Amino acid sequence: MTQTRTAALTEPPALGGGIPLLGHTVAFAQDPVALIVEGHKQLGEVFTVRIAGRKFTVLSGPAAADAVFRASDETVGRRRAYRLMTPVFGEGMLFDASPEQFDEQIALILPALRGGAVEKYGPVMQRHVEDYLSGWGERGRVDLVEAMSELSVNIAVECLIGAEFRRRVGSDLVRLFRDLKAAGRASWLIHPYLPLPAFRRRDRARRELIELILDAARSIKNDGPDAGHFVSTLMSSQLRDGTPVPEEVVASLLLAIIVAGEHNTAAVASWTGVLLLENPEWLAVVRREQDELARDTHGSRPVHQDLRRMETLRRCMVEAERLHPPTTVLLRDAEQEFSYGGYRIARGSRVMVSPTASHRLPDVFSDPERYDPDRFSPERSEHRVTPQPMLTFGGGRHRCTGMAFAYQEIQIIWSCLLRSYDLELEDCPPRPDYSAITAVPRSPCRIRYSRRSGAQEQ
Ligand code: HEM
Repeated sequence: MTQTRTAALTEPPALGGGIPLLGHTVAFAQDPVALIVEGHKQLGEVFTVRIAGRKFTVLSGPAAADAVFRASDETVGRRRAYRLMTPVFGEGMLFDASPEQFDEQIALILPALRGGAVEKYGPVMQRHVEDYLSGWGERGRVDLVEAMSELSVNIAVECLIGAEFRRRVGSDLVRLFRDLKAAGRASWLIHPYLPLPAFRRRDRARRELIELILDAARSIKNDGPDAGHFVSTLMSSQLRDGTPVPEEVVASLLLAIIVAGEHNTAAVASWTGVLLLENPEWLAVVRREQDELARDTHGSRPVHQDLRRMETLRRCMVEAERLHPPTTVLLRDAEQEFSYGGYRIARGSRVMVSPTASHRLPDVFSDPERYDPDRFSPERSEHRVTPQPMLTFGGGRHRCTGMAFAYQEIQIIWSCLLRSYDLELEDCPPRPDYSAITAVPRSPCRIRYSRRSGAQEQ
C-alpha cells in the first residue's frame, strides 16, 4: 500500500447486482461472505459495494488485507469505523480514543495477556471447566453455543478480575454480558444510539457491570499490587504523564478486554465442537489423542505442557477458525488517500477486509469449503504457502493480543469435554448466524452427551 496522489490510478470497480436504493444491503445481511467471494471472483482484490446507503471499498484476499493491517493509524484508522463499539467499550476508550491513547490503554492490559501470564491461567481455566461439567451429570442435552458462551464469560472474568468477583455476581454475569451484546450487528447498519429496547438493555448492562467491577477493583486495591491480581496491578499503574490510571478507566478496560475476548472465544470453541461432531473420522482421531495422553499422564487432567501434545485437536481448532472466523469483516477508514493494486482509495472511504471470505478463496487454500484439518500438518502447511493467509486474529500492529489466551482456553475446554463425555449433534444447522456480533453457529445448536464409560465425575 502506498500513499499517493497520482492521477494515473483508477477508481475501484463497483460490484454489480445491487438493488435500487438498497444496493447490496440485503445480500450482505444474508451472507456477507458469499457477496465478497463473488466480488473477488468477478473483480479481483479491490472493489466497492453499497450497504445501508454507504460505499464500502473491499480489499479482498491475504495480500490486500495485509496491506491494510500494515498501514499506519494515520493512513487507515478505526475510530469512526468502530464507533458501534463505543457504547460497549465506553467513551474515550480504545477505538474511541486517539491512536496514542489507544496504544497507552493496550499497553496497560498487555501484561495480563503475555505468554507467562496466560500459562498461569491454565489451572484456573481447567478447574472452571471441570466445575462446570460437574453440573452436567450422567447424560443430557445442552445448547453448545450457550454452554461455550457461559464458560468463556466466566473464565475470562475469573482470570482477569478474580474468583471472588465471579462468585459474587453469580449467574447474573452471563445475562449481563448477553445484554451488553444485545445490539448485535444491527448497530453497524443503523445508528448505535437509537432508542431501541436492545440498545437500552446494552446500556443498562454496561452501567451495572462497570459499577460491579469498580466495587471489586476498590476492594482488591486494598490488597496492594503484590497480591497477584491483575486488577490490583492495573489500579496501581500510571499513565505516561505519571498520574494514576483513573478507576473508571480500569473498569472500562477490564470490561472491554473481557468482552473483546469472550464472544470470539466462545464462537471458535463452538465451531471446533460442531465441526468435530459433524466429522466422526476426525472426532475419533482427536479422542484417540486425548486417550493416549490420559494414559501417559495416568489419567491426570490436561495441564499446560500437555496442550503442546494435542496436535490434532489444535489442527481441528485452527481449521474451525479458518472456516468460521468470528469477525466476518474488519473495518477501517481511509484517513488519507492511498493506493493498492493500481486503484486509488480516496480519503474518507470506508475500507472492509473479510477474514472469512479470504479464507475461502481457492488460490489461498485448496478445496477451501472442505473441512480438512490436515491442511495444517507439517507436510502440507497450507498456511505457509501464501504469506499471512490466516486472518482470524487480524494482522499487523493491531493483531489480536488475546490469541494465546483463546487457544489455551479452547483446547482445555475440548480436552476436558472429550475425555469425559460421548457427544452427538442433535439439531445444529452448521450455518453461521451473521446477524450476531460474532458469527456463531445458528441457534438452536443442541448436543446430546453421556458420560464415557470409565470417565470419573469431574
Ligand atoms: C478466538 C478468539 C479471538 C478472536 C477470533 C479474536 C479476534 C480479534 C481480531 C480480528 C482483532 C483485530 C481487530 C481489527 O484489527 O480490527 C482482535 C483484536 C484484539 N483482541 Fe482479540 N480475538 C480473540 C480473543 C481475544 C481474547 C481472549 C482477548 C483478551 C482476553 C482479546 C483481546 C483483543 C484486544 C485487546 C485486541 C485489540 C488489539 C489492537 O488493536 O492492538 N481477543 N481480536
